[in-house]
Amino acid sequence: MTEGIDWHPGLGELPYSPIRHMFNTAAKMDDVIHLSIGQPDFPMPEHIADAMVKAIRDGHTGYALDAGLPELRRAVADFYSGYHGTSLGPDNVLITTGCGQTMFMALSAASKPEMEVVIVEPVFVFQHVIRMAGAIPRPIVTTAAEGYQLDPQQVRDAISEKTCAIMINSPGNPTGAVYPRSTVQAICDIAAERNLALISDEVYDRLILDGGEFAGVLGCADSLDNVIMTSSLSKSFSMAGLRLGWAISSERNIVDLQRYHMFISTCENTPTQWAGVAALTGDQGCVEEMVAAYRQRRDRIVPLVDAAPHLTGYTPGGAFFIMPSLPESCDSFEFAMRMLHEIGVCTIPGGTFGASCNNALRISFATSMEKIEAAFERMIPWLSRQSF
Ligand SMILES: Cc1ncc(COP(=O)(O)O)c(C=O)c1O
Repeated sequence: MTEGIDWHPGLGELPYSPIRHMFNTAAKMDDVIHLSIGQPDFPMPEHIADAMVKAIRDGHTGYALDAGLPELRRAVADFYSGYHGTSLGPDNVLITTGCGQTMFMALSAASKPEMEVVIVEPVFVFQHVIRMAGAIPRPIVTTAAEGYQLDPQQVRDAISEKTCAIMINSPGNPTGAVYPRSTVQAICDIAAERNLALISDEVYDRLILDGGEFAGVLGCADSLDNVIMTSSLSKSFSMAGLRLGWAISSERNIVDLQRYHMFISTCENTPTQWAGVAALTGDQGCVEEMVAAYRQRRDRIVPLVDAAPHLTGYTPGGAFFIMPSLPESCDSFEFAMRMLHEIGVCTIPGGTFGASCNNALRISFATSMEKIEAAFERMIPWLSRQSF
Protein backbone atom coordinates (compact mmCIF):
# COMPACT_ATOMS: atom_id res chain seq x y z
CA MET A 1 0.00 0.00 0.00
CA THR A 2 1.32 3.40 -0.89
CA GLU A 3 0.14 6.67 0.58
CA GLY A 4 0.75 8.40 -2.72
CA ILE A 5 2.97 11.34 -3.45
CA ASP A 6 3.49 14.02 -0.84
CA TRP A 7 2.54 16.82 -3.23
CA HIS A 8 3.03 20.54 -2.95
CA PRO A 9 0.35 21.65 -0.42
CA GLY A 10 -1.23 23.83 -3.13
CA LEU A 11 -2.27 20.70 -5.01
CA GLY A 12 -4.17 19.35 -2.03
CA GLU A 13 -6.12 22.61 -1.88
CA LEU A 14 -7.10 22.54 -5.54
CA PRO A 15 -10.86 22.00 -5.65
CA TYR A 16 -12.50 19.55 -8.03
CA SER A 17 -14.02 21.81 -10.67
CA PRO A 18 -17.68 22.54 -9.89
CA ILE A 19 -18.10 23.08 -13.64
CA ARG A 20 -17.13 19.44 -14.26
CA HIS A 21 -19.40 18.35 -11.43
CA MET A 22 -22.38 20.05 -13.11
CA PHE A 23 -21.47 18.60 -16.52
CA ASN A 24 -20.97 15.09 -15.18
CA THR A 25 -24.31 15.17 -13.37
CA ALA A 26 -26.08 16.56 -16.45
CA ALA A 27 -24.49 13.85 -18.63
CA LYS A 28 -26.41 11.20 -16.69
CA MET A 29 -29.75 12.97 -17.25
CA ASP A 30 -32.12 13.22 -20.24
CA ASP A 31 -33.48 16.44 -21.69
CA VAL A 32 -31.01 18.89 -20.16
CA ILE A 33 -30.71 22.42 -21.58
CA HIS A 34 -27.19 23.72 -21.12
CA LEU A 35 -26.66 27.35 -20.26
CA SER A 36 -23.33 26.25 -18.91
CA ILE A 37 -20.93 25.98 -21.82
CA GLY A 38 -17.93 28.30 -21.91
CA GLN A 39 -17.02 27.92 -25.54
CA PRO A 40 -18.43 29.25 -28.82
CA ASP A 41 -21.14 27.16 -30.45
CA PHE A 42 -20.18 28.05 -34.04
CA PRO A 43 -18.09 25.93 -36.40
CA MET A 44 -14.52 27.08 -36.90
CA PRO A 45 -14.40 29.21 -40.08
CA GLU A 46 -13.60 27.10 -43.11
CA HIS A 47 -10.66 29.14 -44.45
CA ILE A 48 -8.86 28.60 -41.14
CA ALA A 49 -9.46 24.84 -41.26
CA ASP A 50 -8.18 24.83 -44.87
CA ALA A 51 -4.99 26.60 -43.80
CA MET A 52 -4.37 24.03 -41.11
CA VAL A 53 -4.94 21.08 -43.44
CA LYS A 54 -2.71 22.71 -46.05
CA ALA A 55 0.05 23.17 -43.46
CA ILE A 56 -0.09 19.47 -42.64
CA ARG A 57 -0.11 18.49 -46.32
CA ASP A 58 2.80 20.86 -47.01
CA GLY A 59 4.80 19.08 -44.34
CA HIS A 60 4.78 21.81 -41.66
CA THR A 61 4.73 19.15 -38.98
CA GLY A 62 8.05 19.64 -37.21
CA TYR A 63 8.83 21.84 -34.21
CA ALA A 64 8.40 25.55 -34.76
CA LEU A 65 10.70 28.10 -33.12
CA ASP A 66 10.10 28.17 -29.37
CA ALA A 67 8.76 31.74 -29.30
CA GLY A 68 6.40 30.89 -32.13
CA LEU A 69 6.26 30.85 -35.91
CA PRO A 70 7.75 34.19 -37.09
CA GLU A 71 4.80 34.68 -39.46
CA LEU A 72 2.35 34.26 -36.57
CA ARG A 73 4.26 36.52 -34.18
CA ARG A 74 4.20 39.15 -36.91
CA ALA A 75 0.45 38.59 -37.55
CA VAL A 76 -0.39 38.92 -33.84
CA ALA A 77 1.76 42.06 -33.51
CA ASP A 78 0.22 43.66 -36.60
CA PHE A 79 -3.31 42.77 -35.59
CA TYR A 80 -3.00 44.29 -32.10
CA SER A 81 -1.10 47.33 -33.34
CA GLY A 82 -4.17 48.07 -35.47
CA TYR A 83 -6.73 47.03 -32.85
CA HIS A 84 -5.31 49.24 -30.12
CA GLY A 85 -3.58 51.92 -32.20
CA THR A 86 -0.20 51.01 -30.77
CA SER A 87 3.11 49.90 -32.17
CA LEU A 88 4.08 46.28 -31.55
CA GLY A 89 6.63 44.05 -33.24
CA PRO A 90 7.04 40.26 -33.37
CA ASP A 91 9.46 40.41 -30.43
CA ASN A 92 6.60 41.64 -28.23
CA VAL A 93 4.77 38.34 -28.81
CA LEU A 94 5.19 34.84 -27.40
CA ILE A 95 3.01 32.11 -28.92
CA THR A 96 1.49 29.65 -26.43
CA THR A 97 -1.02 26.81 -26.24
CA GLY A 98 -3.80 29.21 -25.33
CA CYS A 99 -4.66 31.97 -22.94
CA GLY A 100 -4.85 29.36 -20.17
CA GLN A 101 -1.20 28.41 -20.63
CA THR A 102 -0.16 32.04 -20.88
CA MET A 103 -1.99 32.87 -17.67
CA PHE A 104 -0.35 29.90 -15.95
CA MET A 105 3.08 31.06 -17.06
CA ALA A 106 2.56 34.74 -16.27
CA LEU A 107 0.96 34.14 -12.88
CA SER A 108 3.31 31.44 -11.70
CA ALA A 109 6.29 33.56 -12.77
CA ALA A 110 5.01 36.80 -11.21
CA SER A 111 3.55 35.36 -7.97
CA LYS A 112 6.19 35.58 -5.27
CA PRO A 113 6.07 33.26 -2.25
CA GLU A 114 4.07 34.71 0.68
CA MET A 115 3.23 37.84 -1.32
CA GLU A 116 -0.19 38.89 -2.58
CA VAL A 117 -1.76 39.08 -6.01
CA VAL A 118 -4.77 41.38 -6.29
CA ILE A 119 -7.63 39.60 -8.11
CA VAL A 120 -11.18 40.64 -8.91
CA GLU A 121 -14.11 38.46 -7.88
CA PRO A 122 -15.99 36.89 -9.56
CA VAL A 123 -12.76 35.38 -10.87
CA PHE A 124 -12.09 32.69 -13.46
CA VAL A 125 -10.08 29.76 -12.09
CA PHE A 126 -6.56 31.20 -12.23
CA GLN A 127 -6.41 32.23 -8.58
CA HIS A 128 -5.47 28.59 -7.93
CA VAL A 129 -2.26 29.05 -9.93
CA ILE A 130 -1.36 31.92 -7.59
CA ARG A 131 -1.77 29.56 -4.62
CA MET A 132 0.25 26.81 -6.31
CA ALA A 133 3.06 29.34 -6.69
CA GLY A 134 2.96 29.98 -2.93
CA ALA A 135 1.42 33.45 -3.16
CA ILE A 136 -1.89 34.65 -1.75
CA PRO A 137 -4.83 35.89 -3.84
CA ARG A 138 -6.21 39.16 -2.45
CA PRO A 139 -9.76 39.44 -3.80
CA ILE A 140 -11.66 42.62 -4.57
CA VAL A 141 -15.42 42.13 -4.64
CA THR A 142 -17.65 43.34 -7.49
CA THR A 143 -21.41 42.81 -7.68
CA ALA A 144 -24.23 42.15 -10.16
CA ALA A 145 -26.06 45.24 -8.90
CA GLU A 146 -23.15 47.32 -10.23
CA GLY A 147 -22.74 45.30 -13.42
CA TYR A 148 -19.54 43.82 -11.91
CA GLN A 149 -17.71 47.05 -12.64
CA LEU A 150 -14.47 47.71 -10.81
CA ASP A 151 -13.67 50.98 -9.09
CA PRO A 152 -9.92 51.66 -9.44
CA GLN A 153 -10.00 52.92 -5.84
CA GLN A 154 -10.74 49.31 -4.81
CA VAL A 155 -7.47 48.30 -6.47
CA ARG A 156 -5.58 51.09 -4.69
CA ASP A 157 -7.09 50.00 -1.37
CA ALA A 158 -6.18 46.35 -1.94
CA ILE A 159 -2.50 47.07 -2.54
CA SER A 160 -0.06 46.77 0.35
CA GLU A 161 3.65 46.31 0.75
CA LYS A 162 2.97 42.58 0.25
CA THR A 163 1.47 43.01 -3.22
CA CYS A 164 3.48 41.68 -6.16
CA ALA A 165 0.93 41.65 -9.00
CA ILE A 166 -2.57 42.56 -10.15
CA MET A 167 -4.72 40.29 -12.32
CA ILE A 168 -7.68 41.60 -14.31
CA ASN A 169 -10.00 40.06 -16.92
CA SER A 170 -12.10 42.22 -19.23
CA PRO A 171 -14.38 41.20 -20.88
CA GLY A 172 -14.83 38.90 -17.93
CA ASN A 173 -15.67 35.28 -17.45
CA PRO A 174 -18.08 34.66 -15.68
CA THR A 175 -19.63 38.14 -15.82
CA GLY A 176 -19.26 39.49 -19.37
CA ALA A 177 -18.37 42.84 -17.77
CA VAL A 178 -16.24 45.12 -19.94
CA TYR A 179 -14.25 47.82 -18.18
CA PRO A 180 -14.30 51.31 -19.68
CA ARG A 181 -11.07 52.96 -20.77
CA SER A 182 -10.97 55.11 -17.62
CA THR A 183 -10.84 51.97 -15.42
CA VAL A 184 -8.20 50.16 -17.47
CA GLN A 185 -6.14 53.32 -17.77
CA ALA A 186 -6.29 53.92 -14.01
CA ILE A 187 -5.25 50.32 -13.25
CA CYS A 188 -2.33 50.56 -15.68
CA ASP A 189 -1.25 53.79 -13.96
CA ILE A 190 -1.53 52.26 -10.48
CA ALA A 191 0.51 49.21 -11.51
CA ALA A 192 3.19 51.39 -13.10
CA GLU A 193 3.36 53.76 -10.07
CA ARG A 194 3.70 50.87 -7.65
CA ASN A 195 5.95 48.83 -9.96
CA LEU A 196 3.60 45.84 -9.86
CA ALA A 197 3.15 43.23 -12.58
CA LEU A 198 -0.22 43.73 -14.29
CA ILE A 199 -1.53 40.54 -15.90
CA SER A 200 -4.53 41.18 -18.09
CA ASP A 201 -6.56 38.23 -19.39
CA GLU A 202 -8.18 39.52 -22.58
CA VAL A 203 -9.24 36.21 -24.10
CA TYR A 204 -12.67 37.70 -24.98
CA ASP A 205 -11.14 40.85 -26.47
CA ARG A 206 -12.92 40.43 -29.82
CA LEU A 207 -16.35 39.63 -28.36
CA ILE A 208 -17.39 43.22 -27.68
CA LEU A 209 -21.16 43.42 -27.90
CA ASP A 210 -21.78 47.16 -27.88
CA GLY A 211 -19.55 48.20 -30.74
CA GLY A 212 -17.09 50.99 -30.28
CA GLU A 213 -13.56 50.53 -29.09
CA PHE A 214 -12.36 47.97 -26.61
CA ALA A 215 -10.04 49.30 -23.92
CA GLY A 216 -7.29 46.77 -23.36
CA VAL A 217 -4.01 47.26 -21.53
CA LEU A 218 -2.09 47.49 -24.81
CA GLY A 219 -3.90 50.69 -25.66
CA CYS A 220 -3.86 52.10 -22.12
CA ALA A 221 -0.44 51.38 -20.61
CA ASP A 222 2.33 53.94 -21.19
CA SER A 223 4.85 51.11 -21.19
CA LEU A 224 4.68 47.31 -21.35
CA ASP A 225 7.60 46.95 -18.93
CA ASN A 226 5.31 45.66 -16.17
CA VAL A 227 2.32 44.55 -18.27
CA ILE A 228 1.45 41.16 -19.73
CA MET A 229 -1.59 40.86 -21.95
CA THR A 230 -2.86 37.36 -22.68
CA SER A 231 -5.35 36.20 -25.28
CA SER A 232 -5.99 33.51 -27.85
CA LEU A 233 -7.93 32.36 -30.89
CA SER A 234 -10.23 30.12 -28.83
CA LYS A 235 -13.19 32.46 -28.44
CA SER A 236 -12.87 34.96 -31.31
CA PHE A 237 -12.51 32.34 -34.03
CA SER A 238 -14.36 29.48 -32.35
CA MET A 239 -11.34 27.24 -32.31
CA ALA A 240 -10.91 26.46 -28.62
CA GLY A 241 -9.88 22.86 -29.31
CA LEU A 242 -6.98 23.87 -31.53
CA ARG A 243 -5.18 25.46 -28.58
CA LEU A 244 -3.40 28.61 -29.66
CA GLY A 245 -2.78 31.81 -27.76
CA TRP A 246 -0.15 34.38 -26.87
CA ALA A 247 1.44 36.72 -24.40
CA ILE A 248 2.17 40.31 -25.40
CA SER A 249 4.60 42.36 -23.37
CA SER A 250 7.89 44.24 -23.56
CA GLU A 251 10.62 42.49 -25.54
CA ARG A 252 12.53 41.86 -22.33
CA ASN A 253 9.57 40.23 -20.57
CA ILE A 254 8.90 38.09 -23.64
CA VAL A 255 12.49 36.81 -23.61
CA ASP A 256 12.06 35.89 -19.92
CA LEU A 257 8.77 34.10 -20.56
CA GLN A 258 10.29 32.38 -23.59
CA ARG A 259 12.89 30.76 -21.30
CA TYR A 260 10.04 29.45 -19.12
CA HIS A 261 7.99 28.35 -22.14
CA MET A 262 10.78 25.97 -23.20
CA PHE A 263 10.05 23.84 -20.16
CA ILE A 264 6.30 23.83 -20.57
CA SER A 265 5.52 23.00 -24.17
CA THR A 266 8.77 23.56 -26.14
CA CYS A 267 6.74 25.09 -28.95
CA GLU A 268 3.13 25.06 -30.04
CA ASN A 269 1.39 22.91 -32.64
CA THR A 270 2.90 24.02 -35.95
CA PRO A 271 -0.13 23.46 -38.27
CA THR A 272 -2.32 25.29 -35.74
CA GLN A 273 0.05 28.23 -35.90
CA TRP A 274 -0.45 28.37 -39.68
CA ALA A 275 -4.21 28.29 -39.01
CA GLY A 276 -3.62 31.24 -36.67
CA VAL A 277 -1.87 33.19 -39.44
CA ALA A 278 -4.91 32.57 -41.69
CA ALA A 279 -7.29 33.63 -38.91
CA LEU A 280 -5.55 36.93 -38.13
CA THR A 281 -4.62 37.96 -41.66
CA GLY A 282 -7.80 36.77 -43.41
CA ASP A 283 -11.28 38.27 -43.66
CA GLN A 284 -12.49 39.26 -40.18
CA GLY A 285 -16.15 39.03 -41.25
CA CYS A 286 -16.47 35.64 -39.53
CA VAL A 287 -15.74 37.25 -36.15
CA GLU A 288 -18.24 40.03 -36.81
CA GLU A 289 -20.95 37.47 -37.68
CA MET A 290 -20.40 35.56 -34.45
CA VAL A 291 -20.38 38.76 -32.41
CA ALA A 292 -23.67 39.82 -34.06
CA ALA A 293 -25.25 36.52 -32.97
CA TYR A 294 -23.98 36.88 -29.39
CA ARG A 295 -25.32 40.44 -29.34
CA GLN A 296 -28.80 39.27 -30.41
CA ARG A 297 -28.81 36.60 -27.72
CA ARG A 298 -27.55 39.04 -25.10
CA ASP A 299 -30.33 41.43 -26.03
CA ARG A 300 -32.85 38.62 -25.48
CA ILE A 301 -31.37 37.15 -22.33
CA VAL A 302 -31.14 40.46 -20.42
CA PRO A 303 -34.97 40.98 -20.41
CA LEU A 304 -35.48 37.27 -19.66
CA VAL A 305 -33.25 37.59 -16.58
CA ASP A 306 -35.10 40.77 -15.60
CA ALA A 307 -38.41 38.88 -15.89
CA ALA A 308 -37.16 36.00 -13.75
CA PRO A 309 -38.14 36.23 -10.06
CA HIS A 310 -35.26 36.60 -7.56
CA LEU A 311 -32.58 37.28 -10.20
CA THR A 312 -30.74 40.63 -10.25
CA GLY A 313 -29.39 41.22 -13.73
CA TYR A 314 -27.43 43.85 -15.64
CA THR A 315 -26.24 44.22 -19.22
CA PRO A 316 -22.98 42.43 -19.97
CA GLY A 317 -20.93 44.26 -22.59
CA GLY A 318 -18.83 41.36 -23.82
CA ALA A 319 -18.14 37.62 -24.02
CA PHE A 320 -21.19 35.32 -23.82
CA PHE A 321 -21.98 35.24 -20.12
CA ILE A 322 -24.29 36.91 -17.66
CA MET A 323 -24.08 36.25 -13.92
CA PRO A 324 -27.28 37.41 -12.20
CA SER A 325 -27.32 37.29 -8.43
CA LEU A 326 -29.90 35.66 -6.18
CA PRO A 327 -30.87 36.69 -2.64
CA GLU A 328 -27.86 36.73 -0.34
CA SER A 329 -28.83 33.65 1.65
CA CYS A 330 -28.73 31.46 -1.48
CA ASP A 331 -26.06 28.77 -1.78
CA SER A 332 -25.38 28.62 -5.52
CA PHE A 333 -24.02 25.06 -5.42
CA GLU A 334 -27.17 23.65 -3.87
CA PHE A 335 -29.40 25.92 -5.95
CA ALA A 336 -27.84 25.17 -9.35
CA MET A 337 -27.84 21.43 -8.65
CA ARG A 338 -31.48 21.50 -7.56
CA MET A 339 -32.45 23.47 -10.65
CA LEU A 340 -30.63 20.92 -12.80
CA HIS A 341 -32.39 17.98 -11.13
CA GLU A 342 -35.85 19.57 -10.97
CA ILE A 343 -36.15 21.28 -14.37
CA GLY A 344 -33.13 20.08 -16.37
CA VAL A 345 -31.46 23.48 -16.83
CA CYS A 346 -27.71 23.42 -16.30
CA THR A 347 -25.98 26.62 -15.16
CA ILE A 348 -22.74 27.12 -13.24
CA PRO A 349 -22.86 27.99 -9.51
CA GLY A 350 -21.49 31.45 -8.85
CA GLY A 351 -19.50 30.10 -5.89
CA THR A 352 -17.16 28.52 -8.44
CA PHE A 353 -15.82 32.02 -9.05
CA GLY A 354 -15.24 33.10 -5.47
CA ALA A 355 -16.82 33.09 -2.02
CA SER A 356 -18.26 36.58 -2.52
CA CYS A 357 -20.46 35.44 -5.42
CA ASN A 358 -21.91 32.25 -3.97
CA ASN A 359 -25.39 33.76 -4.40
CA ALA A 360 -25.14 33.98 -8.20
CA LEU A 361 -25.44 31.77 -11.28
CA ARG A 362 -23.32 31.93 -14.41
CA ILE A 363 -25.52 31.68 -17.47
CA SER A 364 -23.85 31.20 -20.84
CA PHE A 365 -25.46 32.31 -24.06
CA ALA A 366 -23.05 30.36 -26.25
CA THR A 367 -26.10 28.40 -27.34
CA SER A 368 -29.02 28.90 -29.71
CA MET A 369 -31.82 31.39 -29.18
CA GLU A 370 -34.29 28.46 -29.13
CA LYS A 371 -32.45 26.84 -26.24
CA ILE A 372 -32.27 30.14 -24.36
CA GLU A 373 -36.04 30.62 -24.75
CA ALA A 374 -36.76 27.01 -23.75
CA ALA A 375 -34.53 27.26 -20.68
CA PHE A 376 -36.25 30.39 -19.39
CA GLU A 377 -39.69 28.85 -20.04
CA ARG A 378 -38.64 26.28 -17.45
CA MET A 379 -36.76 28.65 -15.16
CA ILE A 380 -39.24 31.51 -14.71
CA PRO A 381 -42.11 29.40 -13.25
CA TRP A 382 -39.64 27.35 -11.20
CA LEU A 383 -37.97 30.47 -9.78
CA SER A 384 -41.36 31.92 -8.86
CA ARG A 385 -41.94 28.88 -6.62
CA GLN A 386 -38.67 29.38 -4.68
CA SER A 387 -38.52 31.22 -1.41
CA PHE A 388 -35.43 32.42 0.45
C1 LIG B 1 -11.27 34.15 -18.72
C2 LIG B 1 -10.64 33.02 -19.45
N1 LIG B 1 -9.31 33.01 -19.59
C3 LIG B 1 -8.68 32.02 -20.23
C4 LIG B 1 -9.37 30.96 -20.76
C5 LIG B 1 -8.62 29.88 -21.47
O1 LIG B 1 -8.58 30.16 -22.85
P1 LIG B 1 -7.76 29.32 -23.89
O2 LIG B 1 -8.69 28.40 -24.59
O3 LIG B 1 -7.20 30.33 -24.83
O4 LIG B 1 -6.70 28.61 -23.14
C6 LIG B 1 -10.75 30.91 -20.64
C7 LIG B 1 -11.51 29.76 -21.16
O5 LIG B 1 -12.68 29.58 -20.91
C8 LIG B 1 -11.41 31.98 -19.98
O6 LIG B 1 -12.74 32.01 -19.87
